[in-house]
Amino acid sequence: MARDSASPASNPASASNLASASPLRRLPAHVTVVEVGPRDGLQNEKGVVPTAEKIRYIDLLSAAGFAVIEATSFVSPKAIPQLTDAAEVMAGIQRRSGTRYTALVPNAKGMERAIAANLREVAVFTAASETFVRHNINSTIAESIERFRPVVALAHEHGIRVRGYISTAFGCPYEGAVAPEAVARVADELVALGVDDLALGDTIGVATPNQVATLVPLMTERMALDHLGLHFHDTRGTALANVLTALELGVTTFDSSAGGLGGCPYAPGASGNLATEDLLYMLHGMGIQTGVDLNAVVRASQFIAGALGRMPTSRYLQAALATA
Ligand code: HMG
Ligand code: MG
Repeated sequence: MARDSASPASNPASASNLASASPLRRLPAHVTVVEVGPRDGLQNEKGVVPTAEKIRYIDLLSAAGFAVIEATSFVSPKAIPQLTDAAEVMAGIQRRSGTRYTALVPNAKGMERAIAANLREVAVFTAASETFVRHNINSTIAESIERFRPVVALAHEHGIRVRGYISTAFGCPYEGAVAPEAVARVADELVALGVDDLALGDTIGVATPNQVATLVPLMTERMALDHLGLHFHDTRGTALANVLTALELGVTTFDSSAGGLGGCPYAPGASGNLATEDLLYMLHGMGIQTGVDLNAVVRASQFIAGALGRMPTSRYLQAALATA
């Protein structure tokens, strides 16, 4: 069985590398890891995972102790046929008291479904580039913001927290480079709508640390640091370097997916999210607390690997299984 790197004794790298003794400055003592595997991971699979297996997967992730799990999407079944069972999934899981469960919602219809499913938190999603928004949610950026207006109002009427995602913040599969000012403009619109949290998406995994260092201060002019999340895909292997840069800037919320599943069907060239195991290994090794049990995440990834019939890409997972 995999060893949990949270224990310095089990991790040779960590003993001399605790946050308090680290020469790196301003590292947070605690980080919130948002587990997006059941949503970002399963939306990108060719096959549809049976509802009972999704429920078991989320229950295993809940047992690992995540503070937030993005469990599904209340989107059009034509857009994402893999997640049409969102209501059944939310009704079937065992909700752990320390975990917040969230889901993507693109419009008022999705919000009504999320309310009926007793969600306490949702995420609206747009992007910093017009072509991606057109492919993903069939609107302009401005139209997407107008669509979110009733979503945010309805959510807040019901005491539901709303995250606003800005995809393609670091680059677009259709338009290439994206100007930081374009990201800031969309952030302004979302903040004006009243979203509670902002998340920047590196949808196709092109981000590099200098971009993180440019965009994080632009965002914190608009949203408190502890309400800013970063969502890296690891297509080009830069996700952990980006996380390290963001940690030094004080960011404390990172998205990742168990095993490294993930990708957007409307973003050609996108591959998996930053793997949760790889992120936890680095954070725990640096003495940063997450409250998540790495061994339990490995068990969830092994379960979903069996359901999908293939081994996920997480480097930690592969190393752990090779030495088990
Ligand atoms: P549209 O076709 O323009 O909308 O899609 P519509 O209002 O004309 O609806 C079309 C049909 O869908 C209708 O059904 C609606 O009732 C139905 P019909 O009358 O044809 O039978 N419909 C719905 N059904 C259930 N729930 C709903 C819903 N809405 C409409 N909420 C729309 C526009 C936005 C709905 C569609 O494009 C959509 O659902 N897109 C979602 C795409 C998606 O989920 N992409 C992946 C997530 S984003 C991502 O992965 C990036 C992220 O990870 C961050 C990052 O990495 O950057 C978050
Ligand atoms: Mg994503």
